[in-house]
Amino acid sequence: MQGDKKILYSAAQPTNNLTIGNYIGAVKNWVDLQEEYDCVFAIANMHAITVRQNPAELRKNTLSLLALYIACGIDPKKCVLYLQSHVPAHAELAWVLNTFTYVGEMERMTQFKDKSAKHADNINMGLMDYPVLMAADILLYQADVVPVGVDQRQHLEITRDIAIRFNNLYSPTFTVPEGVYVKVGAKINDLLDPSKKMSKSAENVNGSVFISDDRDTVIRKFKRAVTDSDACVKYDPQNKPGVSNLLSIYSVFSGKTVEECEREFEGKGYGDFKLAVGEAVADKLAPIQAEQARLLADKAYLDGVLKDGAESAARRANRTLSKVYKKIGFYQL
Ligand code: TRP
Repeated sequence: MQGDKKILYSAAQPTNNLTIGNYIGAVKNWVDLQEEYDCVFAIANMHAITVRQNPAELRKNTLSLLALYIACGIDPKKCVLYLQSHVPAHAELAWVLNTFTYVGEMERMTQFKDKSAKHADNINMGLMDYPVLMAADILLYQADVVPVGVDQRQHLEITRDIAIRFNNLYSPTFTVPEGVYVKVGAKINDLLDPSKKMSKSAENVNGSVFISDDRDTVIRKFKRAVTDSDACVKYDPQNKPGVSNLLSIYSVFSGKTVEECEREFEGKGYGDFKLAVGEAVADKLAPIQAEQARLLADKAYLDGVLKDGAESAARRANRTLSKVYKKIGFYQL
């Protein structure tokens, strides 16, 4: 707890393009949470390098993610917004936590196994250590809650295990965080294969709508979305996965309930429906894209945000790190 607010921590990697699924599941959600919680949000570039990155792109994606967050409504005055590599305490605590984590535990992580299969030529120690760095991120800030996608559940469980292990060996040091698994975003599926989650690395880019897509691209992608042959706009994920996915998207982007959306398209064809979904999404994205572009042109402002963010993040993180060093017997000056 910080004051009377619970501490919330989350982070995202500055890789690739974010999809509208990421927008709903992560970014928009964070914006809503920043009033209620004491929020700390990071751009996890240290996690990003566990798979090979192009340096120029990594640098560019970092600023563009920062600008996107701010454009979406994350207010650097209300929360701590920073770049992971700007706060050395992350690497420092990760090193200590490594000695409280077992090799077997890391080898069993599903994401490590998946990524090892995908990047068989580069199964580096960082990839294996990824969950420990993530534990360091979270524990440094004494986070009470961590909203993440369901794919991060195992990483959160291991964070809790490591925290409990350390607390039991020494004395209470870390807050044991609760995972909050975001539901709405997880519900957004691929437009061409609605049995799959919409992903930033889908085989066919036409199945994913990116926050950076221009209006024509968005509308074209929705026009091509897979539906069914009933010609009836009804929410039924079992039997009508394509239409139900479009209804979820329309509901989120128009702010109407799914029932209201069904009523709106009663007796209308899929052509009208798909066009309306595309327009609703494009209408919502346009001001975000414009604001992101404006911010990206103001590098001095963005650097200032990162500088302030790094300072307040480091102040908090160093408090925890110093406690840890004291407990494990590191002589301090
Ligand atoms: N691993 C997370 C992801 O890829 C990103 C991340 C890094 C994170 N550190 C974190 C999320 C700490 C929550 C808390 O989505």
